[in-house]
Amino acid sequence: MLSSQAFSFPMAHIILFVFTASTVFHIQQRLAKIPLTWDFETLVLTRTERPTSQPPRGMWTINAIGRLGNQMGEYATLYALAKMNGRPAFIPAEMHGTLAPIFRISLPVLHGTTANRIPWRNYHLNDWMEERYRHIPGEYVRLTGYPCSWTFYHHLRDEILREFTLHDHVREDAQRFLRGLQVNGRQPGTFVGVHVRRGDYVRVMPRVWKGVVADRQYLEQALDWFRARYDSPIFVVSSNGMAWCRENINASRGDVVFAGNGIENSPAKDFALLTQCNHTIMTIGTFGIWAAYLAGGETIYLANYTLPDSPFLKLFKPEAAFLPEWIGIDADLSPLLKH
Ligand SMILES: *[C@@H]1O[C@H](CO)[C@@H](O)[C@H](O)[C@H]1NC(C)=O
Ligand SMILES: *[C@@H]1O[C@H](CO)[C@@H](O)[C@H](O)[C@H]1NC(C)=O
Ligand SMILES: *[C@@H]1O[C@H](CO)[C@@H](O)[C@H](O)[C@H]1NC(C)=O
Repeated sequence: MLSSQAFSFPMAHIILFVFTASTVFHIQQRLAKIPLTWDFETLVLTRTERPTSQPPRGMWTINAIGRLGNQMGEYATLYALAKMNGRPAFIPAEMHGTLAPIFRISLPVLHGTTANRIPWRNYHLNDWMEERYRHIPGEYVRLTGYPCSWTFYHHLRDEILREFTLHDHVREDAQRFLRGLQVNGRQPGTFVGVHVRRGDYVRVMPRVWKGVVADRQYLEQALDWFRARYDSPIFVVSSNGMAWCRENINASRGDVVFAGNGIENSPAKDFALLTQCNHTIMTIGTFGIWAAYLAGGETIYLANYTLPDSPFLKLFKPEAAFLPEWIGIDADLSPLLKH
């Protein structure tokens, strides 16, 4: 699918355009050194003019900040907004470094040396779609912020799933692991990926955001929800706090496997395992949101995990973060009210 797409006509246009644009920048730099007036716009137009359809003008990109889940959100948002505005999208080299080892992404990469020569117009995004984002002015726009909301890209779900298709060897490693699992000596009927976000959030949620992370009661309720509905489910747990999970998730029924390695700077294995499961239990954070979106089955999430006056709610709209069909279980906020 990818190779045929790489040689398709619109892609050829983009490649031609990048080549042309970089040549033009190069020429322009040289021209700047000699006293000659040559209109940059005219140069671009004459060199890219084609008898048939014109490639879209300009170059859009987005900041590459945060870890895997954030960068997936940034990628998908750039993909969707550039398309909506009729602009070609390019990803920064760091984003390519994060995503390309795991997924068969197709957006072209903008190398640092080229990016540095472009007079970008920064355009800040909230983490939810707004009408004005359909008409963002500018040919050289760098989107900024931490967008991860399905409201930007869910209308392109199939394309987003194609962009985030796992490389064969990554998927195969996860599948081999899942095929080896048993529930009390039997093949599992259903695989449920469980992502428990801990790490820095354990301190940051109460101190900065007047919120909580998932506790053992939440996880017990979420596991029981699947136990009640599916025949011999198995729960595949991945977390950046595996020690906490081993102590707080009751594995005595023989249906819980502590699978993740929790290594934050090489998240491919844990992420792939979660996406290959049939359903998802997530807690908080974009890693879990993306695992659930790609797994595509039933999803349980931790809901209302901050106090109503939390500053978090100025940056985060739950209805734009969780798909309407996902099932929320309210967090226990009582630990926040004790002091
Ligand atoms: C763990 O679950 C079993 C039921 O399978 C129950 O008997 C046991 O009390 C639970 N342990 C804890 C610590 O909740
Ligand atoms: C559940 O997931 C497993 C592992 O990826 C897969 O083999 C199986 O076909 C899935 N079941 C359904 C009903 O999708
Ligand atoms: C969360 O809080 C909102 C607002 O109080 C409420 O409508 C909703 O039912 C709560 N629970 C979930 C799971 O969204």
